[in-house]
Amino acid sequence: MATQLQPGLTLTETIELEHLLLAETPAEPPAVDARDIGKAFGDRRVLDGVDLSLRAGEFVAILGRSGTGKSTLLRILGGLDPVFTGTADVPDRRAFVFQEPRLLPWKRIVDNVRLGQRGAAGKAHARAALDEVGLGDFHHAWPKTLSGGEAQRVALARALVRQPELLLLDEPFGALDALTRIKMHVLLQELCLRHSPAVLLVTHDVDEAILLADRVVVLDRGRITLDVNVALATPRLRADHAFGELRSQLLAALGIDEIAEGARA
Ligand SMILES: Nc1ncnc2c1ncn2[C@@H]1O[C@H](COP(=O)(O)OP(=O)(O)O)[C@@H](O)[C@H]1O
Ligand SMILES: [Mg+2]
Repeated sequence: MATQLQPGLTLTETIELEHLLLAETPAEPPAVDARDIGKAFGDRRVLDGVDLSLRAGEFVAILGRSGTGKSTLLRILGGLDPVFTGTADVPDRRAFVFQEPRLLPWKRIVDNVRLGQRGAAGKAHARAALDEVGLGDFHHAWPKTLSGGEAQRVALARALVRQPELLLLDEPFGALDALTRIKMHVLLQELCLRHSPAVLLVTHDVDEAILLADRVVVLDRGRITLDVNVALATPRLRADHAFGELRSQLLAALGIDEIAEGARA
């Protein structure tokens, strides 16, 4: 932060004043503040005391083995499942993207994107969002004419049009081929730069988590067992030593033996 000299004060006095002011400035409230989240299906305890907070605009990836409660946690934080214990403070403007695009086949693309947003303004917002995901020419098309990657871009546009403060992504690129996935990573990064929502991304792809997130948490049997900042310079390169070290740390937390995996590959 640059020091701004104040009239009538020496430099030392100015710095002291700045420290005082900084100490008094209330920290921005978190975008997500979840405490002690618990969830059971019948006798089966799926979430067991999850604490998770996100700053506004922060991008957090959630890794975890299959069946460990990732989607359950996301649904609770997205307000799709009201039955849980603990407390979850989340923004009102939230949007979800799932692994499958979930487009309504009887509605044209633009009408899928503007679901619930009426009138000419709704249509204009939807077309702007489609432009942003590179599908401006597709607004009149039917969902069945799109490739998997295009359909998933429509799902992103449908999320964007709600101007979410919290974007919840549940393995959104899991069904896409490797090349399309790389393009989607670039698109998601651009959209996040432009709109700055807080993002919760569930993925089973460790590299995807490191490439995209500010922070990665590992969920294991309903608890967060690791929470690390991704302190890597951009652009993040898989070949970098620090990238590899973080990958190893995360794989170990997931209980995956890299050497055994390498031998099998
Ligand atoms: N509606 C449900 N009814 C009963 N069990 C469920 C339901 N949803 C999820 N589960 C169970 O909860 C566990 C966690 O599921 P989920 O959150 O989908 O895991 P993940 O997304 O990490 O793979 C699984 O054992 C799953 O079978
Ligand atoms: Mg899941």
